[in-house]
Amino acid sequence: MGRLAVDWHYNVLHRKYVDTVNKLLPQDWGVDDLIEVIEFADEDELVDLRDAALQAWNHEFFWHSMRPANELVGTADGPFGMLVKRYFGSMGALREAMVEAGRSQFGSGWVWLCICSEQNLVIKTTSNADNPMFWEERKLPVLVCDLWEHSYYLDYGPDRAHYLGTWFDMLANFESAAQNTRRVLQMMSQNPTWYAGEHGQKEDREHPQAPQPHR
Ligand SMILES: [Fe+2]
Repeated sequence: MGRLAVDWHYNVLHRKYVDTVNKLLPQDWGVDDLIEVIEFADEDELVDLRDAALQAWNHEFFWHSMRPANELVGTADGPFGMLVKRYFGSMGALREAMVEAGRSQFGSGWVWLCICSEQNLVIKTTSNADNPMFWEERKLPVLVCDLWEHSYYLDYGPDRAHYLGTWFDMLANFESAAQNTRRVLQMMSQNPTWYAGEHGQKEDREHPQAPQPHR
């Protein structure tokens, strides 16, 4: 991923989403957490706010799903490594599945590696700003790659599969995925109904603080 692509992606596009959230967020909401903004902006007239908040969250998570290209890849050990082995067989098979899922996603979106309520490790793709953490049956992300053309056209042209393979080999942060996996499994054991999609009324919702990107 070249310097210019990252510069435009982070300093222009990501910033625009954050600025839009700040501009559209109703003053009287009193929330400053993106997850809360997304959950509460579920009415038709708030779709622009919700989309901008989703994209702000998704991009933050995307940056934390990467590591500097010259750093050694984190080992997939612990619960994350066990789940990869159980549901994919190997890191090579996970790579193949993520590249294929991302390649075949029609149009703009994201390819996610997530944990679902049964504690399986699954790959999901979403369109545009959508994020499986906010589906009725939640899937909690541990790693994500951006499939919007702005993330790869400058360096890879239309070859999305090449971008995805290079991203997995050179940039994906499995240490972060392993930490997110630990965090998600812990939260699931503490608040299982939230993850099963039993959201309750707005006022009663309890929001776990997660999955916060690894810093
Ligand atoms: Fe992006």
